[in-house]
Amino acid sequence: MAIRQLVAWILLALAVISCQFCGFANGEFCQKVNTTEGVGLPYIPPSYQTRIEMNILTKNQTYEFQEWFDGYLGNVRIRRYQKDGEIDDYIYNNATREIYVIFNDLVCLVINMTGKTDLDLLFGVDGRLLPSSALMLRFSKEFGMEYRNKSIVRGITVDYWYSCQTWKERKAVFEVHWYFSASSWNTPYDVNLPVRAEVIGEAGDVSNPRKFHMIYDFVSFRDVLMAENTIFDTPTGVYCEDRMQVQKPPELPAVMSYTQEMLVHDPALEMVQYGNVYYDGSQFLVKYQFRDPNGDTKPPFYNPGSMTVIQDFTTGISYFIDDLIGNCTDKPISNDFFDTEDPPIK
Ligand SMILES: *[C@@H]1O[C@H](CO)[C@@H](O)[C@H](O)[C@H]1NC(C)=O
Ligand SMILES: *[C@@H]1O[C@H](CO)[C@@H](O)[C@H](O)[C@H]1NC(C)=O
Ligand SMILES: *[C@@H]1O[C@H](CO)[C@@H](O)[C@H](O)[C@H]1NC(C)=O
Ligand SMILES: *[C@@H]1O[C@H](CO)[C@@H](O)[C@H](O)[C@H]1NC(C)=O
Ligand SMILES: *[C@@H]1O[C@H](CO)[C@@H](O)[C@H](O)[C@H]1NC(C)=O
Ligand SMILES: *[C@@H]1O[C@H](CO)[C@@H](O)[C@H](O)[C@H]1NC(C)=O
Repeated sequence: MAIRQLVAWILLALAVISCQFCGFANGEFCQKVNTTEGVGLPYIPPSYQTRIEMNILTKNQTYEFQEWFDGYLGNVRIRRYQKDGEIDDYIYNNATREIYVIFNDLVCLVINMTGKTDLDLLFGVDGRLLPSSALMLRFSKEFGMEYRNKSIVRGITVDYWYSCQTWKERKAVFEVHWYFSASSWNTPYDVNLPVRAEVIGEAGDVSNPRKFHMIYDFVSFRDVLMAENTIFDTPTGVYCEDRMQVQKPPELPAVMSYTQEMLVHDPALEMVQYGNVYYDGSQFLVKYQFRDPNGDTKPPFYNPGSMTVIQDFTTGISYFIDDLIGNCTDKPISNDFFDTEDPPIK
């Protein structure tokens, strides 16, 4: 898939994740309730990780998510699995207030959240960047949480909490039916485990409201982050072009030499190549000595033995020396060698 197509894909995926409730709310859908006094709300740990199965009943669609929430550093990562094996990641970096959207561990798009207050991830929380874990799960006293009764969900004895909430930034009104394992039920995590959240609501014109109905089932919920801290890093090999620079790259000396090992991962050309590089920035000279046992040499080289290329940027001349035969060809410096810049890719 071309980069352009992938970016279009990401934008589409973003629209799905963030615009679930776009439109104008029908305020009549439900009314905010008072938080039930005397019954303690289930404890939401500051950090957690979980898997979520999200069923969108109004779209006949299932998504799977993995979520990591770090309440101490303020970072969130949501990995979404969708149809056709597509995977996208949403990493919120609180230190720089950026969201990195990564499609199939390949292409990255940066969303600058500075000046924005609405964290769209999963449930979306308006007016707060970054919300606490309880706000993130939309389970907090301030939403008006009414205790209903004990019930059974997925075979688990649960406490059922009801609330009617709005998402101002998305102009939606919806009921949240939250189910937590009851204290009488044993779980690997010794407090009440989130089992299910059912979200039913309306957005859009009062005359023609768009209805939505989602069920979020929580599995493998943990009250600590068991994943490595690197879970909030962008995957190896993924380059996020527009992300904020928080660390300067190390300064390199003007004169240096090193031996390099180059691995080429290209289906057409799998190879390992070693070479010695001599770089003199003060005299504008580069020398590269290497072998190419694969025989993919371009003229004027025709042997798999040691070869040397010297580029003199003062005169603009390249010297190609066959170390075996001992002859040399000089050519104007072109951009087909590693130490010259490629023309920008259009
Ligand atoms: C919520 O509490 C307020 C103040 O105690 C009361 O006036 C109101 O009627 C209550 N609302 C509901 C829906 O019970
Ligand atoms: C979902 O499936 C039902 C029953 O098969 C069908 O009536 C309905 O139109 C479908 N809805 C969507 C949005 O595809
Ligand atoms: C997230 O970043 C903001 C702004 O830099 C900071 O005030 C806040 O403490 C951070 N949150 C956490 C949980 O560290
Ligand atoms: C709990 O309350 C809901 C309505 O609020 C009702 O439909 C359900 O039957 C009740 N469950 C039990 C176990 O009483
Ligand atoms: C992010 O947005 C803010 C406010 O619009 C702006 O000042 C800042 O330069 C942006 N950061 C980047 C890296 O573009
Ligand atoms: C060396 O000479 C051979 C035979 O004339 C020629 O094919 C080759 O291109 C030359 N190599 C270089 C590096 O000049």
